[in-house]
Amino acid sequence: MNNEVQKNTSSLTKTKLWLDVLVFIAFLITMDPHTSGIAIHEWLSLAMIAAMTLHLLLSWDWIVEITSRFLGKLGGQNRINYILNWLLFIDGTLIMISGIMISEVALPLMGITLPMGFAWRRLHDMSANIGLILLGLHTALHWSWIVTTFNKYLLQPIVKLFSAKQKKDASI
Ligand code: HEM
Ligand code: HEM
Repeated sequence: MNNEVQKNTSSLTKTKLWLDVLVFIAFLITMDPHTSGIAIHEWLSLAMIAAMTLHLLLSWDWIVEITSRFLGKLGGQNRINYILNWLLFIDGTLIMISGIMISEVALPLMGITLPMGFAWRRLHDMSANIGLILLGLHTALHWSWIVTTFNKYLLQPIVKLFSAKQKKDASI
């Protein structure tokens, strides 16, 4: 790989890593609205729509490629990831729509009041719980990427920093 391509790949991977860490933490916070408070719950979840769009855009090449190959020859792991990603997408949409339908802070603040009724609250709770399971599977399927990337871009730089400092201290 030439240097320029290598640099672009590594900065894309770093962007993915930080975004994934942020959305993971944000998702865990949104799973406990009683601790965070309902206002944080709603605004943070709505902000996650932008973060999730970015998450998908950063893997756009993969999505386009696997979509075109899905009915043909495709390795098992990619097929499972693809199906699971669609389930995540559908479930995520249900969480957001049902959340908006029961909104107590964000929508009233914008002057929007939606009719109550239907089992929005039940749907919200159920889709959020299913989301937690799907996210667990999504994380498990990307575990080796997570470990490798954490090691390369977080642990190793910290270890290098400390060993450089130790060498400097020893030479004084
Ligand atoms: C808290 C939420 C999520 C976290 C922490 C997360 C984490 C990850 C990680 C670690 C990867 C591998 C590295 C990367 O390409 O970034 C990945 C890939 C991917 N994720 Fe997510 N993800 C989340 C939600 C979602 C959702 C809701 C969808 C679908 C709408 C999705 C679709 C994808 C796709 C298409 C890929 C790349 C292809 C693949 O290898 O599966 N992710 N995600
Ligand atoms: C990642 C997205 C989201 C997740 C994971 C999530 C998760 C949850 C969970 C687990 C509950 C508790 C359900 C219960 O105790 O019965 C809840 C309640 C609630 N959520 Fe969400 N939610 C999300 C997005 C949203 C959005 C976008 C809104 C509105 C704009 C919203 C509004 C609410 C409201 C009003 C409640 C009821 C709180 C109460 O008990 O009074 N949520 N959510």
